Amino acid sequence: EAWNELARELAGEVEKVVMPLFGTSKAGETVGTNVSGDVTKYVDKVAEDLVVRRLSSLGVNIVSEEIGFIDNGSDYTAVVDPIDGSYNFAAGIPIFAFSFAVFRGKKPVYGAIYEFVPKHFYEAIPGEGAFMNGRRIHVREPERGKEALSFYTRGRCTGLIEKVKRVRVLGAIAVELTYLAKGALDGVLDIRNYVRPTDIAAGVLIAREAGAIVTDERGREFEVHLSATEKTNVIAVNDEYLLKLILEEL
Ligand code: IPD
Ligand code: CA
Ligand code: CA
Repeated sequence: EAWNELARELAGEVEKVVMPLFGTSKAGETVGTNVSGDVTKYVDKVAEDLVVRRLSSLGVNIVSEEIGFIDNGSDYTAVVDPIDGSYNFAAGIPIFAFSFAVFRGKKPVYGAIYEFVPKHFYEAIPGEGAFMNGRRIHVREPERGKEALSFYTRGRCTGLIEKVKRVRVLGAIAVELTYLAKGALDGVLDIRNYVRPTDIAAGVLIAREAGAIVTDERGREFEVHLSATEKTNVIAVNDEYLLKLILEEL
C-alpha cells in the first residue's frame, strides 16, 4: 500500500486549509466537545472533516481525535490527529503537526508526522527505520548531566526537574516525539493520565524506529491501542539509564 503517498497528500491538503487560520481567533473558537471530553476547536474540525472524507472514500477504518472510531470494514485502521497542538496553532505558537499512523489489525505498518511550519515530514515503517524529509534520523546518545526532557506530570515527579539540565514543554506531543527521534530531546514524558492514542500513535513508531525506548509509567513496553478515548501515560527516552532515572522518581 502506498501509505507514504497518502500521508504526504493528506498532510499537504490539511496544510492548505489550515495555515491561513494560523494564529487567528477563528481557529480557536470552540465548536463542540470531542469523544474524549476535550473541546473541539474550529481548526480541529476543518482539518478532521477533510481527513475523514478522504480516508472514508478509501474505505479504511478511522480513529480520529475529535470524531472517534469509524468502522469502514477494512483490515486497515488509520489513527489520526489532524492537528496535534491546536492550542499552539490558535495562539500563534508555531509548534503543531499532522499525525497519521496506519495499523493492519493491531500491528502498526506506517507512521507519519508533518510539522507544518518548518516543513518537516517524518515517517517510519516497522523494521525499516525513521526518516525526516527522506533522511534517516536517530536518537542521540545522552550526555549525563545535560539531558533535555519534555515533561508533563501535573505536579508529580517534580524531583526529576533537578536531575536533568533542561525541561522543554512544547504543547504538542507528536512533535516532541519527533524531536526525541531526531536527537533534539533526550526524553518525552507524559504521566498525567491524559494523552490519547491519537496523540502518539505515529510518534511512538517514529521514535522507536529511531532507536527510542517507549514504555508505560511502570517501564513496560508501551502498547498503542486503536482508541480515541483511552487515556494513557507514556515515557519515551533515548537511553536505558534515563528511563531508570525517571522510574525512580515516579
Ligand atoms: C494535545 C497535545 C499536547 C498534549 C495534550 C493534547 P491537541 O493535543 O498533544 O501535547 O499535552 O494533552 O491534548 O488537543 O492539541 O490535539
Ligand atoms: Ca492531539
Ligand atoms: Ca488534535
